[in-house]
Amino acid sequence: MTQASECIDSRQRTGQPWNDMHPEALESMSSLRGDERGMGSMLSKASQVFILTDENVAPFWLPEVAHWLHCDSAIDIVIKAGEQHKNLQTVQRIWKTLMKHHADRNALMINLGGGTVTDLGGFAASTYKRGIRFISVPTTLLGMIDAAIGGKTGIDFGGAKNQIGTFAEAEEVVIDPVFLETLPQRELLSGLSEMLKYGFVADSKLLETNLENYRQFIVRAGEIKREIVAKDPTENGLRKILNFGHTLGHAIESHCLTTDAPLLHGEAVAVGMLAALWLSVKQCGLNEQVLKDYEEKLPVLLSEAEISLSEADIEAVLGYLAHDKKNKGEKPQFVLVEAIGRPVWEVTEDYDTIKRSLEYIINEYGKR
Ligand SMILES: NC(=O)c1ccc[n+]([C@@H]2O[C@H](COP(=O)([O-])OP(=O)(O)OC[C@H]3O[C@@H](n4cnc5c(N)ncnc54)[C@H](O)[C@@H]3O)[C@@H](O)[C@H]2O)c1
Ligand SMILES: [Zn+2]
Repeated sequence: MTQASECIDSRQRTGQPWNDMHPEALESMSSLRGDERGMGSMLSKASQVFILTDENVAPFWLPEVAHWLHCDSAIDIVIKAGEQHKNLQTVQRIWKTLMKHHADRNALMINLGGGTVTDLGGFAASTYKRGIRFISVPTTLLGMIDAAIGGKTGIDFGGAKNQIGTFAEAEEVVIDPVFLETLPQRELLSGLSEMLKYGFVADSKLLETNLENYRQFIVRAGEIKREIVAKDPTENGLRKILNFGHTLGHAIESHCLTTDAPLLHGEAVAVGMLAALWLSVKQCGLNEQVLKDYEEKLPVLLSEAEISLSEADIEAVLGYLAHDKKNKGEKPQFVLVEAIGRPVWEVTEDYDTIKRSLEYIINEYGKR
């Protein structure tokens, strides 16, 4: 076990018992949700409550959340932050902590954090004793509109992302933008890209999202994801549209992770969407103005990113593309749009066309 992936802290809070809570306290917390009292009764039915969070979120929000929930006797589990800790070692630590505290099948886990914590915590909870209940409290924009919604949990394994996981729905997903007050701007922008994604594939309103007004679109973005997941929970068809911008986005993200300038997921998706729109103009008759408008938005989305893509990187990016799990046979698959809100999926592209889309992206950067 490496030091890096250890739970850095797990301790029992002292004070009020977790089930001695006041439902009205929950209302102030889940200001964007309607079923706070349902959550209250769920907490009071649990045999024990565990709050899982990471080292960055804990100092800001762990005491607050425990206080809001009147859950002062909850057991905190604090893990290292970052994707590199979304792995089996961290999950084992969590399982061991649950066992150490004799957590039974009526225990409840509250996963407080970004997508890393909600993915990992959901996985740990859904597998412990064949599954205990969990509540997701996303603290990043990306978590609120995407990662915490839809029931996919998971960890990275064997050097690849999200290889091991479950489909397991959280009992509740508590959305409260208050958590975004402490989120670094770069992380916020990364989430904003994913919000624009919903604008392209589902609801043009979301294309109005910007740094000033994004809060008013959080609920709508979450609804879109829920609607899509409800229609296709196991990603056999429609759910694939959520991968808009992700085919090249993932390849670029993987490639940049090997350089001095790694990109956040949303940043890579922002670049991937540029390529997807370019391909959509070429292959699906998308109005070129949509691409031009997006070109205007991109500098803000990438304002905190350091991008160093050049012609010399193209072959490496194409190499990652070849390993994409979404591929059918040899050719990479894309989600494209015929028009805003009219996505098409499982579009295969040959490598020559993809290469030209990458050249276009690189050329765009040259202009910045
Ligand atoms: N399950 C799904 O359907 C799904 C969908 C999309 C993404 N994901 C997963 O989500 C993960 C990415 O999630 P993310 O972008 O939220 O990253 P993250 O969870 O790693 O959080 C990003 C950073 O922000 C910090 N942080 C989080 N909330 C904070 C706050 N309120 N204040 C200060 N710092 C805060 C974290 O400690 C971390 O350093 C990836 O592992 C991805 O695979 C899952
Ligand atoms: Zn994404």
